[in-house]
Amino acid sequence: MLLDLAEYYVEQNRARDKKSALLRGRTIINLFFENSTRTRTSFELAGKRLGGDVVNISAEASSIKKGETLIDTAMTLNAMLPDVLVVRHPDSGGVKLLSEKVNCAVINGGDGTHEHPTQALLDALAIRRRKGRLQGLTVAICGDILHSRVCRSNIHLLNTMGARVRVIGPPTLVPETIDRLGVEVFHDMKAGLRNCDIVMMLRLQTERMQGSFVPSIREYFHFFGLDHDKLACAKPDALIMHPGPMNRGVEIDSEVADDIDRSLIREQVEMGVAVRMACLDLLTRTLASNAPPNGGARA
Ligand code: NCD
Repeated sequence: MLLDLAEYYVEQNRARDKKSALLRGRTIINLFFENSTRTRTSFELAGKRLGGDVVNISAEASSIKKGETLIDTAMTLNAMLPDVLVVRHPDSGGVKLLSEKVNCAVINGGDGTHEHPTQALLDALAIRRRKGRLQGLTVAICGDILHSRVCRSNIHLLNTMGARVRVIGPPTLVPETIDRLGVEVFHDMKAGLRNCDIVMMLRLQTERMQGSFVPSIREYFHFFGLDHDKLACAKPDALIMHPGPMNRGVEIDSEVADDIDRSLIREQVEMGVAVRMACLDLLTRTLASNAPPNGGARA
């Protein structure tokens, strides 16, 4: 399974020689229509460490700025015969639309408020390595649930793996129908954190907000920012996670974020490279066995 394969790549990445030739002759294009540090860099490193050729395109520096449509950009890149496209797009469904226009594999690097599957996979790996399992754990996802693709992908994956998921946030930032995804909903941090094994904090995604969702940053931090006082309601060995980028003093207190005994944040980033190597490995194997060169496979 993918997480087991990722474990293998964690070891490869910790070794002195990090490179293999698995993807030699393969081309990966990172096409990012939104800013990214962790996701883009880790996909680039993943592709390079597997011996592939990696090209990075950011919307800011491309013909998208000259008015080219998403579909035309996709067709243009497709004509260059890449094996894998990693795409991040501000619209929910934007990556799926693009994947229907190309005949290489497409990996969703985050689409709007919809999904961010490789983030959920790396989170699952980070949890499993520390706790030894996912089954039976209680995971609280806290903050801006409404705008978070990380949250949605984590709900699906954690439920599939047998964890119990809670979401905690102010009513303005929790969709009314979220319980249909199989989560318990809380609007009070201390109540929601009771007996949790994992506390996953989310950034307040102001770039996706039109209008005001919280009265003030100060008040938001007071009620929903994770500090040692609120964390004390979770299990004594509860671990803290954050997908990054963090806004210290908004959703998380610096002392908690930097607590080396409790914080998994650094490990999440490390696991991101390994998980993405596992995704590229599996995906290109599928391509090799199921399809003619550059034919048909999608993810
Ligand atoms: C997240 C994203 O882009 O969805 N970041 C990430 O990929 N590590 C979360 C966020 O932007 O807050």
